[in-house]
Amino acid sequence: MKLLITAGPTREPLDPVRFLSNRSSGKMGYALAHAAMDAGHEVILISGPVPITAPTSVHLIKVETAKEMFEAVRAHIGECGVAIFSAAVADYTPAHVATQKIKKHSETFTLELVRTPDILGSARNVFGFQGVLVGFAAETENLLANAEDKLRRKGCDLIVANDVSRPGTGFDADDNEVLLVTKDASPRHLGKATKHEIAREIIKAVNGLNSR
Ligand code: CTP
Repeated sequence: MKLLITAGPTREPLDPVRFLSNRSSGKMGYALAHAAMDAGHEVILISGPVPITAPTSVHLIKVETAKEMFEAVRAHIGECGVAIFSAAVADYTPAHVATQKIKKHSETFTLELVRTPDILGSARNVFGFQGVLVGFAAETENLLANAEDKLRRKGCDLIVANDVSRPGTGFDADDNEVLLVTKDASPRHLGKATKHEIAREIIKAVNGLNSR
């Protein structure tokens, strides 16, 4: 089986020396790539900028912006039976990218942002993807309700939800603690463990969904 995995943050440029980004380290996505390879799958890893070396046997596609990630997913999702969206994609990008470095002319500076394409939200409707679709939900409140809502709205088979307000798990941490939310079964809690251990459980859950 071939899996597509998105990982890491995106970078949305403001001018030649600045960008908007987030705290995603890519650790969860790269752990998923390792776990999927170990389970005998082929992996296409579409990654934003992270300081991690990918396993040599994955097909690594490096991107910077949400738009580039969208295009890479569009190009490859059709080859894959499973798509896992663990990237922390910027929801907004600067409306204008300055060609020269922005100078500090005034005391305040207002930035206009426009929405980026929702890559996960495009999987079913825009890309026509019919395989197993897995999204992530990073939340700071109402974890289960938000995850169930995301599962429905984006046509996912599985949402991996984590509470990013807890110290020691989530963004940039080595550990994670998640809730696996599916349509049919009751939510399954995976207690605090390394991202590699969590990734192995997610791949097992994906294999289970795939064999139904
Ligand atoms: N995602 C994506 N493309 C985007 C934004 C998010 O593919 N432009 C994916 C992430 O990889 C993750 C999931 O969507 O799998 C997270 O969704 P998120 O944007 O947090 O959820 P929404 O409910 O759309 O929005 P929010 O919680 O920010 O209101």
